Amino acid sequence: MEANAVAATGCGSPAERLERGEVLYYPTAPFPLPQGDDLDFLLQQELGSLNHKNISYNPHNGKVNGFVRKNAEQVERLRNIFDRFSKAATEWLTQLLPQYSQGWQLDRASFRPQEEATRRLRAKARNDLIHVDAFPGRPSRGNRILRVFANINPREPRIWVTSDPFAKLLKRYGEAAGLPGRNRTRWLAHLGQGILGLFRPHVARRSEYDLFMLRFHDYLKLNEEFQEKGPKYLHTFPPGSVWVAMTDTCSHAVLRGRYALEHSYFVSPVVLALPEESPPVLLQKACAASGRRAA
Ligand code: SIN
Ligand code: FE
Repeated sequence: MEANAVAATGCGSPAERLERGEVLYYPTAPFPLPQGDDLDFLLQQELGSLNHKNISYNPHNGKVNGFVRKNAEQVERLRNIFDRFSKAATEWLTQLLPQYSQGWQLDRASFRPQEEATRRLRAKARNDLIHVDAFPGRPSRGNRILRVFANINPREPRIWVTSDPFAKLLKRYGEAAGLPGRNRTRWLAHLGQGILGLFRPHVARRSEYDLFMLRFHDYLKLNEEFQEKGPKYLHTFPPGSVWVAMTDTCSHAVLRGRYALEHSYFVSPVVLALPEESPPVLLQKACAASGRRAA
């Protein structure tokens, strides 16, 4: 593995870099993170059950899930900390990526209290296997997945490894993972629905695109050759740092670290800087090419 290397060209606008699969890294947090008593309080919170991978916050209704509930005061405090984090992260991202803020939908925020190096999860849920993201419970329907992370561990870094971006992985493994069905009319119709349902990802059903992305996520995690021999770039995110990635394009895994905050956003294809390079369009092209070859 290339130690402390970043698969980054540093060329282009922040949106272009994100859409090409780079990680944007900020050694010092560019927006306020929980501190003092609030930070101590957050670090004491425990994951509620094995059904929850993280403690999550829904900014649309203020609900916090997945933690060990002790009393009403604790719940209120946790909600307030998440609310401040969600607002601060969103305000900063609005300045960094003004065009995205015209067409995004806030998804969930989360707190990640578990040590990733020693977690025991079933293979498809493992965070230490390289993958591109697809959320099983929250289909993106052709919207992009943008995520901002903050390492709030006071002492330890969070360690990530990234590999090739979606465009390359699709070329290499798309057919083997199972491109959307030979019935291309159905696939195109579903893609259309995805675009109509842009601002309702929470009520939307899974489109053919979502089904493929879930399949691809699982395929990459279970592909030993890719996990062992694929290119790897190591990222060390020290305490207090922040990083941003489009995790449906930037393949990634977390190897080590505990106590991170994260916020996800669904970004509409209409506000992308490089719409022709987005996964739904690349996938559509791959299907068309595969259909031509098969015909
Ligand atoms: C993931 O989306 O794979 C998790 C990344 C992290 O928790 O750092
Ligand atoms: Fe992921």
